[in-house]
Amino acid sequence: MTHDIAASPHAAPTAPSATLEGDAFTPSPDSALWRRDFLLGAATASYQIEGAVAEDGRLPSIWDTFSATPGKVLAGDTGAVACDHYHRWEGDLDLLEALNFEAYRFSIAWPRVMDASGRPNAKGIGFYRRLLERLKEKGIQTFATLYHWDLPQHLQDRGGWLNRDTAYRFADYADLMSREFSGLVDAWMTLNEPWCSAYLGYGNGHHAPGLAQARYATQAMHHLLLGHGLAVAALRANDPHSAKGIVANVGRGTPDSDSPADRTAARRFEVQHNAWILDPLFKGEYPAELFELWPGTEPLVLDGDMQTIAAPLDFLGINYYFRTHVKSDGAHGFVEVPLAGVERTQMGWEVYPDGLRDLLVGFRRTYENLPPVYITENGMASDDRVRDGQVDDAQRISFLKRHLAAVDAAIKAGVDVRGYFVWSLLDNFEWAFGYERRFGVVHVDYGTQMRTPKRSAELIARFIAERGARV
Ligand code: FCB
Repeated sequence: MTHDIAASPHAAPTAPSATLEGDAFTPSPDSALWRRDFLLGAATASYQIEGAVAEDGRLPSIWDTFSATPGKVLAGDTGAVACDHYHRWEGDLDLLEALNFEAYRFSIAWPRVMDASGRPNAKGIGFYRRLLERLKEKGIQTFATLYHWDLPQHLQDRGGWLNRDTAYRFADYADLMSREFSGLVDAWMTLNEPWCSAYLGYGNGHHAPGLAQARYATQAMHHLLLGHGLAVAALRANDPHSAKGIVANVGRGTPDSDSPADRTAARRFEVQHNAWILDPLFKGEYPAELFELWPGTEPLVLDGDMQTIAAPLDFLGINYYFRTHVKSDGAHGFVEVPLAGVERTQMGWEVYPDGLRDLLVGFRRTYENLPPVYITENGMASDDRVRDGQVDDAQRISFLKRHLAAVDAAIKAGVDVRGYFVWSLLDNFEWAFGYERRFGVVHVDYGTQMRTPKRSAELIARFIAERGARV
């Protein structure tokens, strides 16, 4: 791969001090990122880091089942041990603090905190209580996601998100968590990326539970969003002072030509990736075009559901990674046209920071009630290695810098973006790609569980310290 960054003077550090020389991470002087109230944080998710899948009463989740199924995850990797964060959480929080992060986004594992009858599991709850209390002691803001894909397997056995009852079970879970942790959480996020849960889980089967029908995807999405709306009501009742939001992954689609057919294809790509989730949340309806793309897949919606789903939110979390270049498939849909000669990451994803700015500006225009936004995930995978105790992740440094500049551009264009979380604090279990893809700003040696901050982490830490020192 060729990257302009390869020629960067920071590409070959010789000593630790060289790592911090220069201003590789310093935003332009007029950047909104210098504002002290622009939050800089790091994100993780339970199944990707915790391990300890059978400890202290944790029940199996759909990802335990899926990753144990041959052929579903690269190299047969599972989350059974992962980063062993369940045992190493104190060290990991020390690291978070040492890197000066101001906020931590993590997720609670539903199968750890409730038994199959919905009764609280004190040991699992104790783990998250200690984590939250320690974060508070350190002065790090707490952003807790309730559902980052690890559905209890016993609920999947009764249909998972195809069963409307799962939405009510999710609300019970949100109710319990917000009663237990009221006052310890600064911001609650109900769902992480319902698009992935619904489409990858039920539409193409690449993720757990591995089902593959468009009709399933739209119904699962409806129940996910219904669960979200019901959960928001519970969170508001039990923990009034925290912020409540949801996290959506969003995709930028660009047309291969100016032809009306290709432009429609690009729009439909964005309907399928973005409006499918954002229209119900902020307009109280599903986009009609979705059902032109997937005819006959309208979900069963009961009276009052859309009002529940569209309950006002305090913030929207946006996860952004790449853009997709598409053309018409000759019918109602789109097909991807892989562009040659563009910069890509270890995932093969195109590096396209402008997409983030364009989407944010577009959402502000489309949704007049768009709440304040946090970028709840952004980052990239690279094949990082430790050499002489250091990890030179030059492409990531450049990637983060360019995406932060795109966020700044969106703020200047009038979008209310309040913060940015890098995905991820640690290298971790990257779902269907297992441990091969390394997204962390901290390297993890899975043999020894040794953590090594990469150069990107050191530069972020330095920037946050520098910003804090400014008068
Ligand atoms: C997002 C997921 C997150 C991580 C990144 C790379 O879709 O929310 O868990 O896997 O992608």
